[in-house]
Amino acid sequence: ARLVVLVSGSGTNLQALIDASRDAAYGAEIVAVGADRDHILGLDRATREQIPTFVVPLNGFESREEWDEALTAAVSAYEPDLVVLAGFMKLVGESFLAAFGGRTVNTHPALSPSFPGMTGPADALAYGVKITGCTLFVVDAGVDTGVIVAQTAVAVEDDDTVETLHERIKVGERQMLVDSVGRMARDGFQVDGRRVRFVR
Ligand code: GRF
Repeated sequence: ARLVVLVSGSGTNLQALIDASRDAAYGAEIVAVGADRDHILGLDRATREQIPTFVVPLNGFESREEWDEALTAAVSAYEPDLVVLAGFMKLVGESFLAAFGGRTVNTHPALSPSFPGMTGPADALAYGVKITGCTLFVVDAGVDTGVIVAQTAVAVEDDDTVETLHERIKVGERQMLVDSVGRMARDGFQVDGRRVRFVR
């Protein structure tokens, strides 16, 4: 399967997918990496692997709709079977969902439906939960509200800071992402109500 991965930061989730996809048996090839901003380590990781990259910066467009249309066109050029938002810090819009809805997954560093949005680890720590984690879901028009593909539980330690907690979540998140994306790529999947069913 052809994957396009979208990133906004350090790209350690992307790196995990790069490493897994080296094995032909994984069943997925990263055909391009896109970002909403330049000069991020995530893009360097792709370039190091000779994976084509593209940047669609929000400030390059008159409106969010135009940005969304440009992002959709940039992704479409690579004809992905599956789009992976791995630390991509923008909400995709109507154009994107019209083109890739149902075959775009996003990873979120909290156990949905708890703590949606940009500060999941900080919100979990502030709330005082003892167990948090990460969620892979099929993107819909909401904020981290899509149909859940997989989740991994991560303990919160008494001396955790947001950083130590998020780093611990990311260990589980990379494994969850690699395992789930590989299975979706190899076996195919369908969204059935609030469930994702693998085809094979
Ligand atoms: C991940 O935990 C992702 O869920 C969150 O930000 C982090 C990105 O990490 N949105 P990286 O860029 O993959 O290292």
